[in-house]
Amino acid sequence: MSLKGKHALITGSSRGIGRGIALKLAENGVKVAIHYVHNEAAAKDTLEKVRKRGSDGFIVQADVTKPEDIKAMFRKVADEFGELDIFVSNARPEAEAFFQPPMDITLEQWDTAFDSQAKAFLIGVREATPLMKNGGKILAITYAEGSRTGGLQPWVGMGSAKAALESLVRYFGVALAKRGITVNAISPGWTEDSVLNSLPQQVQDLITNWHVRGWTPMGRLGTPADVADVVGLFCSDDAGWITGQVIYADGGASLMNPGVPTEIQIG
Ligand SMILES: NC(=O)c1ccc[n+]([C@@H]2O[C@H](COP(=O)([O-])OP(=O)(O)OC[C@H]3O[C@@H](n4cnc5c(N)ncnc54)[C@H](OP(=O)(O)O)[C@@H]3O)[C@@H](O)[C@H]2O)c1
Repeated sequence: MSLKGKHALITGSSRGIGRGIALKLAENGVKVAIHYVHNEAAAKDTLEKVRKRGSDGFIVQADVTKPEDIKAMFRKVADEFGELDIFVSNARPEAEAFFQPPMDITLEQWDTAFDSQAKAFLIGVREATPLMKNGGKILAITYAEGSRTGGLQPWVGMGSAKAALESLVRYFGVALAKRGITVNAISPGWTEDSVLNSLPQQVQDLITNWHVRGWTPMGRLGTPADVADVVGLFCSDDAGWITGQVIYADGGASLMNPGVPTEIQIG
């Protein structure tokens, strides 16, 4: 698949899944705006890797919980690229900024979750589309398990914010359909080389073993490259008839039945 000559902005592409998406698009000839909030060194390193793959781009700093920062980020994209073909809304604050159960979460933590997901996407799409032509691709990276379940109690802020993000994907899908711009969400399962690595080792091991033992039918965690491959598919012209959808990219984990032990389900 060649996306040569196209321009992309990927929020949160200094690290993790966002970095994987930036590198995959670069391999396909896309010029990439690498976005970060604090970790400039990591953003520069991603840009270096983009250049090693024969493409180019620039780095841009913005706190996506701040509307003015988002607008300034798009001004830089307009100055550097003059146009935009692909916008991936991927950034998510560190867990301590929002990770509290429903009876304890502060309004500030709640706002951080919603501002970084739903409001950032609302503003981002409205800033991105004036730069886009027919055929533009907008993608949101969600975690749809958090939108539809309630067990992981401290996820309440982010789960609710991702649910609002997924709802916005549907509304923007309709709003931008006549312009030929598609809007979709990709929902990865637990992914290596991401926020997972920042969790205590015991938690990492528990999550990894649970998925390898059977919760993910494909028997492993995902990788940023797995998610990036799906982004690549959606950026192809052949995906132009799909809009407003939330697509799981999780090795089948979302197919499992939480009411039945995995050992019984997978035989
Ligand atoms: N990891 C998983 O297993 C998993 C599973 C399902 C869905 N997801 C989704 O995938 C996306 C990426 O997750 P990840 O685990 O790869 O992320 P990550 O490794 O924790 O990286 C987070 C990225 O977001 C940026 N960021 C953090 N706070 C920000 C803010 N206030 N404003 C702007 N940028 C900010 C960070 O920039 P700095 O480097 O500058 O800090 C970094 O680039 C998220 O939307 C997440 O919900 C992840």
